[in-house]
Amino acid sequence: MSQELWTKVDEYIDEMLVGEDEALRVARRVSEEAGLPAIAVTPSQGKLLKLMAEMIGARRILEIGTLGGYSTIWMARGLGAGGKLVTLEYEAKHAEVARKNISRAGLDGVVELRLGDARKALPELAKENREPFDLIFIDANKDSTAEYFEWALKICRKGSVIIVDNVIRDGAVVDASSADAGIQGIRKFNEIVKEDKRVHATAIQTVGSKGYDGFTVVRVVG
Ligand code: SAH
Ligand code: DHB
Ligand code: MG
Repeated sequence: MSQELWTKVDEYIDEMLVGEDEALRVARRVSEEAGLPAIAVTPSQGKLLKLMAEMIGARRILEIGTLGGYSTIWMARGLGAGGKLVTLEYEAKHAEVARKNISRAGLDGVVELRLGDARKALPELAKENREPFDLIFIDANKDSTAEYFEWALKICRKGSVIIVDNVIRDGAVVDASSADAGIQGIRKFNEIVKEDKRVHATAIQTVGSKGYDGFTVVRVVG
């Protein structure tokens, strides 16, 4: 099994099933040309996020970590009528690229991008007492994953779904003595999920064009 084969199979899946359109293709190209890191979800993962939003009938989505808006566009397209998506991004340059990509995708009236540190933006969002989020995608700095998850629980509802990206990292997640703060952040998040009776969860390992990683799906039950 090799990266080469995983990439080839991803290309096959993309061609057969995913149906990425021009706005998404341009969003990827523009993000790359602007020098953003190549860490957006893959097309098949983006499509999965859209399908999940549709499956749960999401009308309110929160994303933590926008980058160039690639996953943002996928998820926003899975929203029901009148749906809204809030996305949080720390880097001004990423936000600028994302705003253009979101605009090009015709989603200006649907997506609200907030520039700033999610560690500050989340308490502020919580204070606004808005309608609870139906779907929350956590995909920012991995060392804060546990903190983001705890805020996510405060601003969602029973039945909401929380998806956390990059929870496997080439299998490094099983290294309890890892010196990587990101790995320790994921492990702390797993400890919280393990103990919290209000949530049901699983994690899925993935291979593909972006290597070996995985995501956690959490369903809030109480
Ligand atoms: N969800 C995107 C990829 C996000 S990459 C996609 O799949 O298309 C992670 C992003 O989180 C980067 O843009 C990074 O700048 C941002 N980020 C890192 N730390 C952050 C913080 N404290 N608050 C908000 N965003 C942060
Ligand atoms: C990284 C971040 C991501 O969100 C991702 O999907 C892959 C890699 C990173 O920070 O390395
Ligand atoms: Mg990610």
